[in-house]
Amino acid sequence: MDGAVSEAAPRLDLAGKHIVLGLSGGIACYKAADLTRELVKAGASVQVVMTEAAEHFITPVTMQALSNRSVATSQWDAREPNNMAHINLTRGADAVLVAPASADFLAKLVHGRADDLLSLMCLARPIERCPLLVAPAMNREMWAHPATRRNLAQLRADGTTILGPDAGDQACGEIGDGRMLEAVELLEEMVAFFQPKALRGKRVLVTAGPTFEPIDPVRGITNLSSGKMGFAIARAAQEAGAEVTLVAGPVHLPTPRGVQRIDVRTAQQMHDAVLPAARRHDVFVATAAVADWRPATLSDQKIKKNGSKIAPTFELTENPDILAAVARLPDRPYCVGFAAESHDLLKHARDKLERKNVPLIVGNLGPATFGRDDNALMLVDARGHRQLPQADKLTLARQLVAEIASRLSTASA
Ligand code: CTP
Repeated sequence: MDGAVSEAAPRLDLAGKHIVLGLSGGIACYKAADLTRELVKAGASVQVVMTEAAEHFITPVTMQALSNRSVATSQWDAREPNNMAHINLTRGADAVLVAPASADFLAKLVHGRADDLLSLMCLARPIERCPLLVAPAMNREMWAHPATRRNLAQLRADGTTILGPDAGDQACGEIGDGRMLEAVELLEEMVAFFQPKALRGKRVLVTAGPTFEPIDPVRGITNLSSGKMGFAIARAAQEAGAEVTLVAGPVHLPTPRGVQRIDVRTAQQMHDAVLPAARRHDVFVATAAVADWRPATLSDQKIKKNGSKIAPTFELTENPDILAAVARLPDRPYCVGFAAESHDLLKHARDKLERKNVPLIVGNLGPATFGRDDNALMLVDARGHRQLPQADKLTLARQLVAEIASRLSTASA
């Protein structure tokens, strides 16, 4: 590992996956065009199936151009040699995603109706190996209606995965629940859906980002940590089926879907958020670059030069060591520390393993990774060390999560 690292190749999270994308009638059909692009960009092959109602909102021409496959719209389409599009479409598919799924379409699924190609195909799919996901899209009153509530409960009981919906402005001008998720959110959900569920039933607590230690109302001490590695670990743990709490210092990164985020600014605030939460979690991953010291006193007014040539001096006081404090808890979670070093990575990582009394330290070269989308990690424990070579941070986070999961299962075996 040295400073001159090359950019990691783009991740193809859905490489090799074949998705049947069903569109039922709704204004959210316009988002299905973008969704198709996102799925294809992520490496999936996409076969679009549209209901007649969907064709009122977006044309098969658009969907064919984006998916690079002719769109299936009718069970009477004679192009299929056996004339059984409803069977053929799902036999090689990894999943069926209906987006948008209208209230009417959900009702049809519940009753096993099969009077158009899309509903017929959903009924005829091999239920054990071709999962069904739906992204509802409808007016908030339709969403809240007892009939829709009943239908959703039944769909869940039948093994259907419900994605969203979101709340907010609706095409009808009303505001509330029922908006279909955005294309990028649906992509994130699909990618997560296919990840192995190595942490199902576990709770994971992650710290991420820098802390900011104020000197006066406009200045402070902080560092170059971007939070990207910690956010990637939170996302990877959530994808692996864990319930995730992310305590984040001041960073402007979007919260991974399904992750509970607590924003803090200072090391003390991070400590106060983490300590009471730690014993409710099975795993604690400390990726935050916590400031080691803070100014001993906080000036409540901006410190002025006032013509003086003498620079002010500050007394510093030590911040609490959050990781070491969690590791001291009697019923502590499985603790993973990070070591961001500028040199002698292995030596410093070993030192932290002992000093913080944790079973695993993940070493990386701080200056080479801060702010970047890729990284290289070194896993150090009492037995030895192992390198996770240069890759984008989410790929590394998934490898680390798999490693943690296998250590947890060994520990509980
Ligand atoms: N850490 C923490 N609280 C602190 C300082 C560090 O929880 N006050 C955690 C970090 O999140 C990381 C690990 O401890 O997981 C190591 O952090 P690092 O800053 O590399 O180590 P320090 O203990 O601060 O040692 P040094 O600055 O001497 O390298």
